[in-house]
Amino acid sequence: MAGAVGYHRTNGTLACEGVPLPAIAERVGTPCYVYSAATIKAQYNALANALAGVDVRLHYSVKANSNLAILSLLRSLGAGVDIVSGGELQRALHAGFTGADVVFSGVGKTPAELEAAIRAGVKTINVESIAELETLNVVAESMGAVAPVALRVNPDVSVETPHPYTRTGEHGMKFGIPDDQVLDVARSMRAMRSVTLVGMAAHIGSQIVRAAPYAETAQQLLELCNAVRSDGVTTLRYMDIGGGLAVSYGDDEPADLQEFAEAIRPIAAASGLQLLMEPGRYLVADAGTLLTRVVYRKHSGGKEIVITDAGMNDLIRPALYEAYHAIERVEPTDDRIVADVVGPVCESGDFFGLDREIGNVAAGDLLAVRSAGAYGYVMASNYNTRPRPAEVLVDGPRYAVVTAREQYQDLVRLEHLTPTWSDASCASD
Ligand code: LLP
Repeated sequence: MAGAVGYHRTNGTLACEGVPLPAIAERVGTPCYVYSAATIKAQYNALANALAGVDVRLHYSVKANSNLAILSLLRSLGAGVDIVSGGELQRALHAGFTGADVVFSGVGKTPAELEAAIRAGVKTINVESIAELETLNVVAESMGAVAPVALRVNPDVSVETPHPYTRTGEHGMKFGIPDDQVLDVARSMRAMRSVTLVGMAAHIGSQIVRAAPYAETAQQLLELCNAVRSDGVTTLRYMDIGGGLAVSYGDDEPADLQEFAEAIRPIAAASGLQLLMEPGRYLVADAGTLLTRVVYRKHSGGKEIVITDAGMNDLIRPALYEAYHAIERVEPTDDRIVADVVGPVCESGDFFGLDREIGNVAAGDLLAVRSAGAYGYVMASNYNTRPRPAEVLVDGPRYAVVTAREQYQDLVRLEHLTPTWSDASCASD
């Protein structure tokens, strides 16, 4: 929350920029996600300024928040994108990015996704295995194209992140090509006519506070770049150090941009390559709030239990990673309670915070679940046949619904009440 310049209290009431949150709840309904454009701009500029003088492009990691209006905002700031699926490619193009703005990561890209990426003219395809490289070569050849490849290195660097599920850079994990295999993979490219090596890439995890593992990883990428150059490769253009910069969700420390930039700057300069970064959370987490209304309150086992109209289907991070999100009463009160703040979904893991001190609330009161702009809506589901919430973008004194609330009809649109049967004996027809 440390960087959430877009949120403040006016006469005690929590507002996003110039718009009090109760006004949004009143007009759009709850639950809904609210995003502050000013916060996204501030985070983008802070990172870009820290790296001033470095030949760098920030490729926003679309998976963190793929709303088209957010993508469009980041594009206007000068960002490119990092994508991990054909769907994200389509979103990026829809939002006005061109192929040259796109790096394509992911361990399981299908031939169809690789073909779409080549057709779009992406900047790099970050290849994660020899098998993917071989498939890419075949796909590109069939299109009469040459695909630009960055090898995603698994540097065997361990990072401290709040949860093991957000670490990616150690051997034995599914991500990347183990660093000791990278030179062989690069050499195997000599026999492939439809791929060209343009970069080295890595992504070691998410919510990383310290600069040291980045420096260690970048240094490895530099050494691998130098090794393939000594091998005769002359086509390298990019060194991609992935995403992962931490934000503060409460009392925890955010990444120190100056420390990070100082660690990376000399390595980037020594590489003679354009530095690429793939920040997701850092740009959007603090911008977002999940706005929810208390439905009921009850008392059980000596505890207060506050039940909200948002659930784990809307924001799964607490359930999935035991992630901490600050929770605040939107309207002011001096009266405090300690409560479990839980959703209505039929799972004991459906909670936003346990034993939290919050302002005293009753049914009808609003709560703000903070720092929910990254990996919030994008991970929402329809579990319990709950429509996904609306998304609202605030920019100064104005706000806009940038995703409408789902309706029941949206949820069953692809289903068939009465099956139209096919006969399996005719399956090959
Ligand atoms: N690049 C690659 C290749 C990635 O896999 C990721 C995130 C990023 C960049 C962006 O990382 P960021 O800057 O956002 O840390 N759902 C989890 C986070 C999963 C991150 C997956 N990869 C969470 O809610 O904490």
